[in-house]
Amino acid sequence: MRNIRDLIKTVADTALSVIIYGETGVGKEVIARELHRLSNRRDKRFVKVNCAALPSELLESELFGYERGAFTGATRFKPGKFEIASGGVIFLDEVGDIPLRLQAKLLQVLQNGEFSRLGGRDVKVNTWVISATNHDLASDMRETRFREDLYYRLNIIKIDVPPLRERREDIPPLVDYFIKKYRSDLDISEDFTIYPEIMDLFLQYDWPGNVMELFNTIRRLMVMGDWEELRRQISSEPDTTP
Ligand SMILES: Nc1ncnc2c1ncn2[C@@H]1O[C@H](COP(=O)(O)OP(=O)(O)OP(=O)(O)O)[C@@H](O)[C@H]1O
Ligand SMILES: [Mg+2]
Repeated sequence: MRNIRDLIKTVADTALSVIIYGETGVGKEVIARELHRLSNRRDKRFVKVNCAALPSELLESELFGYERGAFTGATRFKPGKFEIASGGVIFLDEVGDIPLRLQAKLLQVLQNGEFSRLGGRDVKVNTWVISATNHDLASDMRETRFREDLYYRLNIIKIDVPPLRERREDIPPLVDYFIKKYRSDLDISEDFTIYPEIMDLFLQYDWPGNVMELFNTIRRLMVMGDWEELRRQISSEPDTTP
């Protein structure tokens, strides 16, 4: 994680395309927001688009916008997220899910800083593209689900975020951080500490949901106090309760 922190500082002002790889819940979005916060674009927008959440046509109008009358139902002009984010950052989450047809259009923006809005004009933008994915884009590319030219354009700077089980030393400081955060968010005044025995279990557990799962676990413990339930869930011993 220290290497990632150094890399973030180095890259932040360059506006070179960054792609962040990592399993679900490792903190890819946290890193994207850090890149923005540390860059000279910090006062401009950070616009997030989840590329997996929308069908192809909607994703196209979301990213690139449309003119009034571009299609039935286009009653007024709608700017795309690339335009809205110009000067700032567009965060393309789940970029591996962009359909092939739109990959061509995305490539064009990355190459020329220009694209054509649905039903109309060409638009020039200066948008820093940060993307993230939890699949292996290289294998998508080999199986021709992902354009090779786009792959290389997006991968100029590559950040690999390791799963939590490969950086267990991050667990105690993250636990402290989440406890502090939740004490103030939930307005809990009493002290809240994780028993050493539970911390040992945390350090052994594999955290398939990564930092997100740790975060939810702490929050649930602070609200529900269901220590026994937790112990059962995360210890590797077989469940012996009758
Ligand atoms: N280094 C960190 N410090 C504090 N909180 C973190 C850190 N990394 C991750 N988190 C928290 O963990 C949760 C998951 O992070 P995030 O949403 O960035 O993950 P992600 O990799 O984008 O996950 P997904 O693939 O599921 O979208 C968030 O609540 C985030 O605030
Ligand atoms: Mg995410």
